[in-house]
Amino acid sequence: MSKQELQHRAYKASGVSYEESLRVTQLVPCLYKRLGYELGCEKLSQLFYDAVFEDTENVWFLNIFVSSTKREAVENQYRFFVQIFGGPDLYKQKKGKYTRLVGRHAAYPIGHTAADHWVKHMEDAMNEHPNLNKLHKSNNDDNDNNNKNDNNNRMNENNIIETKEAMRLYFRYTAHYIVVAKEYMRDDQLSGGTGVDEGRVW
Ligand code: HEM
Repeated sequence: MSKQELQHRAYKASGVSYEESLRVTQLVPCLYKRLGYELGCEKLSQLFYDAVFEDTENVWFLNIFVSSTKREAVENQYRFFVQIFGGPDLYKQKKGKYTRLVGRHAAYPIGHTAADHWVKHMEDAMNEHPNLNKLHKSNNDDNDNNNKNDNNNRMNENNIIETKEAMRLYFRYTAHYIVVAKEYMRDDQLSGGTGVDEGRVW
């Protein structure tokens, strides 16, 4: 299966094209700055995993994470976000040269229902994030000394809408891309996985 065919399948499943998903990497200033640097990216992952680990109403989903600790999961995810949203290569420093996002998910029982549920939690986390919510004081207010010349990272309402839309497209597309692409991974590209509900893919 070619990359283009996988991208087309992900588009069919998510309703988002590959090109639309890239918008998140084209924002100026970059998303890393808009979220509030390392701390802002970590905040997003913390909000996301707080909700995931409290999602006892959806045990089928929670079970996908049974082999992870919340702290480790936050750490892995926020380093990845810092790196791909325009910051330093924190993920590479911990995990090596290749991100292998699909391979790292391949052994987990993740189908399109889980992808939709993941996206729902991420959208909730975005809605609670201080820098993506006009009701909150910006995270960057704590960083004034570091960013004296960088007023761009204070977002007005239009920027918040633009940022959230780009993030939604990226997350939606990527979650479904992971699901369609992991079917085509070779055994030696797999890692991770849980033993719960073995054989059942959500
Ligand atoms: C499709 C729904 C998804 C599910 C059910 C899911 C589930 C998981 C699980 C169970 C882990 C292991 C937690 C750990 O690090 O200990 C994980 C890791 C991770 N996930 Fe996801 N994930 C999904 C989608 C995504 C998406 C869309 C992204 C990024 C945009 C993402 C980024 C990551 C990263 C960076 C890691 C760390 C991998 C590592 O370094 O080992 N995930 N995910």
